[in-house]
Amino acid sequence: MEELLFWIKVLFVFLFTLVVVLKVGVLFWWRPRKIQGHFSKQGIRGPPYRFFIGNVKEIVGIMLKASSQPMPLSHNILPRVLSFYHHWKKIYGATFLVWFGPTVRVTISDPELIREILCSKSELYEKNEAPPLIKQLEGDGLLSLKGEKWAHHRRIISPTFHMENLKLLIPMMGRSVVEMLEKWKAMGEVEIEVSEWFQTLTEDVITRTAFGSSYEDGKAVFRLQAKQMLLAADAFQKVFIPGYRFLPTRRNINCWKLDKEIKRSLVKLIDRRKENACGSEKDLLGLMIEASNVTVDDIVEECKTFFFAGKHTTSNLLTWTTILLAMHPQWQVRAREELLSVCGGSREIPSKDDLAKLKTLSMIVNESLRLYPPTIATIRRAKADVELGTFKIPCGTELLIPIVGVHHDDATWGSDASEFNPGRFSEGVSRAARHPLAFIPFGMGVRTCIGQNLALLQTKLTLAIILNRFTFTLAPTYQHAPTVLMLLYPQFGAPILFQPLSAL
Ligand code: HEM
Repeated sequence: MEELLFWIKVLFVFLFTLVVVLKVGVLFWWRPRKIQGHFSKQGIRGPPYRFFIGNVKEIVGIMLKASSQPMPLSHNILPRVLSFYHHWKKIYGATFLVWFGPTVRVTISDPELIREILCSKSELYEKNEAPPLIKQLEGDGLLSLKGEKWAHHRRIISPTFHMENLKLLIPMMGRSVVEMLEKWKAMGEVEIEVSEWFQTLTEDVITRTAFGSSYEDGKAVFRLQAKQMLLAADAFQKVFIPGYRFLPTRRNINCWKLDKEIKRSLVKLIDRRKENACGSEKDLLGLMIEASNVTVDDIVEECKTFFFAGKHTTSNLLTWTTILLAMHPQWQVRAREELLSVCGGSREIPSKDDLAKLKTLSMIVNESLRLYPPTIATIRRAKADVELGTFKIPCGTELLIPIVGVHHDDATWGSDASEFNPGRFSEGVSRAARHPLAFIPFGMGVRTCIGQNLALLQTKLTLAIILNRFTFTLAPTYQHAPTVLMLLYPQFGAPILFQPLSAL
């Protein structure tokens, strides 16, 4: 009997091992091979898949090599910031297969196909699942939600970003910029690392958009969230152990404590707002409190998403545009002349109507978004077996849309694609390139950036006020090193020399 039990155990262990080996074999060997074959028949090739790691080793190698040194003062940044795409595009063409471990991604940079994925057949694709640490950073809000819950939240939050609502923020935004510039002026002629200043400025604006009249309390909540993000970002750089975030380490305990504190503060804030409700505020908090089927947890997550999605993107856009204007002083002159003709030399804060007339400034901001898009790529996952153009894409395949690659493509933008030429936008965005949808810094379709109007308004207003008061050049310490850490940012900061105009 004992012997029988022994052999049953052996058989069980053997069968279990066999199942595990088979599963591993299918996931890491057989399936990738099958997928490679499927795409190769359609003419889509790529670097060969390696067991378990896919192309990760090569990708890391290519990226480290590309970012090992600053680059010349050129806008040809694709080889540096999306180096693996640039490298393999030359070998396999713009549509190729690349393996992130056993996960397959196909790069899609043809604007016609991108339109299909993001607009005309968007119901066939979904956002890919972010890794848990990224999710902790970006919050479980609009950016990552799917299906009915996403649609419900998007409907609730949208009025916050209608122009009629945003224009009410202009006086407050303008005051913050003027205060910042007064501090710069008082510092005399010194290098200013603009990216940090722009982050503070953007934080103020996002806080106002999210919390309206509860600005001070809201600021405290965002401060706690910023602390939590620092902890998560720290872990993101150091820890690769699955499940680590559940262990009671000092970092995790701090993170959980912060979580509780954030929730407690928000609950208090919500109660206070309900007591003093006037019903007319269209900030994120007010709209979410009024809506049905929204929990405190939902509000916490949307606040995180706002903070994450809004702060660094807009401050990066401001930083790159300032760097570009410092590199190309002739465009500063043109933008300043336009300001003079629209605002008549007044140092008042420009109105919404003034801003709408600043065509040259809009062209400059667009060219900055084209050359240095803060979000360099996005990903969608096929929800079923789908047809994309003439390609047959199996369910589960991830499609990588290299926004920065689309924006730097000679075939669409002409031989001067890597040059700073805002004039290409003089007849509008849809006529700037050979394809009307080749400019996608905010994505497109149903999941297009909800904060686009706010970002553009704040950027134009800030630059208009700066241009009205200062001329500026790159500081001698500036090193051109665009780098990606989730977003595109200058690796060694953005030191700029400002000279007050009245002192010229
Ligand atoms: C220059 C500034 C910005 C850039 C370049 C930018 C870029 C983008 C892009 C490319 C997407 C689409 C992602 C995708 O399709 O996968 C997106 C979505 C989003 N953005 Fe922005 N963004 C900016 C500013 C903002 C601001 C100021 C906010 C909020 C205050 C914001 C909130 C969001 C949210 C919530 C989504 C998800 C929308 C949805 O899926 O329904 N963004 N952004």
